[in-house]
Amino acid sequence: MNLKIIKISTFVLPLILLSMFITNLKLDSKNHPMNDSITQKVDSLLQIMTIEEKVGQMNLYNGFWDATGPVPEGGDAKTKYDHLRKGWVGGMLNVRGVKNVRGVQKIAVEETRLGIPLIIGFDVIHGYKTISPIPLAESASWDLEAIENSARIAATEASAAGINWTFAPMVDISRDPRWGRVMEGAGEDPFLGSKIAIARVKGFQGEDLSQPNTIAACAKHFAAYGFVESGREYNTVDMSNVKLFNTVLPPFKAAAENGVRTFMNSFNDLNGIPVSGSKFLQRDILKDKWNFNGFVVSDWASINEIIYWGHAKNKKEAAFIASTAGSDMDMEGHVYVQELAELVKAGQIDEAIIDEAAGRILRVKFELGLFDNPYKYCNEEREKSIIGQASHHEAALDIAKKSIVLLKNENNILPLKKEGQKIALIGPLANDKNSPLGSWRLASEDNSAVSILEGMEAYTKNELSYAKGIELFKGQATFRNQVEINKGDRQGIEEALNIAKDSDVVVMVLGEHGFQSGEARSRTELNLPGLQQELLEAIYHVNKNIVLVLQNGRPLAIEWAAEHIPAIIEGWQLGSETGNAIAQVLYGDYNPSGKLPMTFPRNVGQIPIYYNYNNTGRATNREGNVFWSHYIDKENSPLYPFGHGLSYTTFKYSDLKVDTSNYGKNIKVEISVDITNSGKRKGKEVAQLYIRDKVASIVRPIKELKGFELVELDTNQTITVSFSLTANELGFYNNDGNYIIEPGDFDVFVGGSSVTEIKSEFTLK
Ligand code: BGC
Repeated sequence: MNLKIIKISTFVLPLILLSMFITNLKLDSKNHPMNDSITQKVDSLLQIMTIEEKVGQMNLYNGFWDATGPVPEGGDAKTKYDHLRKGWVGGMLNVRGVKNVRGVQKIAVEETRLGIPLIIGFDVIHGYKTISPIPLAESASWDLEAIENSARIAATEASAAGINWTFAPMVDISRDPRWGRVMEGAGEDPFLGSKIAIARVKGFQGEDLSQPNTIAACAKHFAAYGFVESGREYNTVDMSNVKLFNTVLPPFKAAAENGVRTFMNSFNDLNGIPVSGSKFLQRDILKDKWNFNGFVVSDWASINEIIYWGHAKNKKEAAFIASTAGSDMDMEGHVYVQELAELVKAGQIDEAIIDEAAGRILRVKFELGLFDNPYKYCNEEREKSIIGQASHHEAALDIAKKSIVLLKNENNILPLKKEGQKIALIGPLANDKNSPLGSWRLASEDNSAVSILEGMEAYTKNELSYAKGIELFKGQATFRNQVEINKGDRQGIEEALNIAKDSDVVVMVLGEHGFQSGEARSRTELNLPGLQQELLEAIYHVNKNIVLVLQNGRPLAIEWAAEHIPAIIEGWQLGSETGNAIAQVLYGDYNPSGKLPMTFPRNVGQIPIYYNYNNTGRATNREGNVFWSHYIDKENSPLYPFGHGLSYTTFKYSDLKVDTSNYGKNIKVEISVDITNSGKRKGKEVAQLYIRDKVASIVRPIKELKGFELVELDTNQTITVSFSLTANELGFYNNDGNYIIEPGDFDVFVGGSSVTEIKSEFTLK
């Protein structure tokens, strides 16, 4: 046992125990007496800490590499080491690998006065080293078990590399595919988003946070970041409470109710208040209304940015605003560590604010078991044997297949035959081994994905020829740099035309590079970037038998392709096993069942476009003139709606029954529908349940998802799928943020996408 562990057990813990007797139980927030043993330990520890040490807990430093944001003033390694030794650092991010984590943990535990261990955070967004599909893609699986398992594996690998806290899941609802970060979320719908948020939190945190293979999760970005104006990153948000409470907050609330241990605030303002300084969000809603007892971390230097927003004069004011508003930890902003102790000493901030914030952070550290063993995540043997193991790749392949959405399949051009077809594989992404890993995969190995060419080669006896056609851009794309899209180099097109002419089927892999979506990757166009559209049309002129495989991190506006190309697969960025997953779907060994978690627009002008929009006073063309809600140059409907996705078989819905015999407050609406596999293959279907509240005190959406069921059916098999809804699931939030349930008539819709018209109704009395 090393010296400092002795220090913790022989010095700090007895002191904690002693002071437990003299401490009255504290209130962790206004209404919630916390009298568990961790609260007592936290309170006792706080009693022996200096103000600087308490503020230190509120200070999160970036490690000395992997900066995932702009490097702030005073962020040099020397200052950070110095602060670490003084006990002025509560946690670190972007330090990974057992050796590195042990290094910084050792300083915290052995060289500081109290030896309080660090919490170690990292963006484990869709896998650590074994990379699973980007979160938006996983969400297209609607398979909550598989999503939970994917987060479980990510936590297993990350914890083996010394990490005990992930900055995930991102639960931001967004209806704007211009915003690059939609790749990190679960799409546009608060119901689906909430279910997926819960699955991911469970996956990361497991049953018991103190186990060495579970890590604390973080619901981010709180809140409304997905609604940045114009889809432009880091922009402003102005939003009604109706939208905030009904659309934005549900997944956060679901995460809080299911035990997520941390929240991260966001870079936007909300109705004029930069969110890191929002008391309304962080205290009134999160900590008071929802009783959240974990801690809130700022986003990268977002507390400093309160100054740039023009809402604080200087760092002192920013520190005051953020800490009193309930931002407990300052990520790489250096504001708290520089300002807070002085503000307390000057009597400008109540020390109770600091105690509360530091206490919340210490609580999570106790829950992680860091005080029992600060090195519990630092096991070289585990690191070597667990990370990247075969079973993790099998699971990554499994969820990659489940994430694929078949958008179109005319004349059953898919699946391809395994033999006897001459196939040309064309496109700048067809043999790319880096791009399929997507964005936010900082610990993966570059170029480690199975490319589509590799996947197809391993899977077929067909004659397969390959040509890149064009380069996507000049230079090399990385997490931090922006590249110049290729708009002029057409050298490879001829070779591609030659192999296309000579083939039975052309598979084209087009879309966005993995670093063309993600943070700071907003786009004003949602077409195929660069010369890809030109390449697609050129190939189409010599061979119309095209299967388009899209690789992208957001919905794209591909109207021309949707009209002309017979088969389209939404292949997202599927992670380490991309090529294998796509090949299995192309050749029919896996029957696709994914459904879109986000609407695909026809063009950018339709954005925001989403399925659960409000009705308007002029929603239809009643009189045959122009005076109704529409465009004069494009129809209102999307290219592909939310919930859409085909299979190699077909499903028929029939016999929708709605039973509301038990009316009143305790109403339980029982809904059932028969689903028949009417095609020639076994297949999976996501049966979706929507309602419409027909008349209410606030205009309600034309449809709202309220349930879904993933079912598998053999050919000709019929099954009955049942849903039930309680009165509580039929209400909504009003502009005061109060949840209300109003009697009245409801429509019920069931089907395989949000445009289903299979409908019945019931009345809530
Ligand atoms: C992002 C967060 C991320 C943090 C740490 C920020 O730029 O907005 O989502 O967790 O960096 O890497």
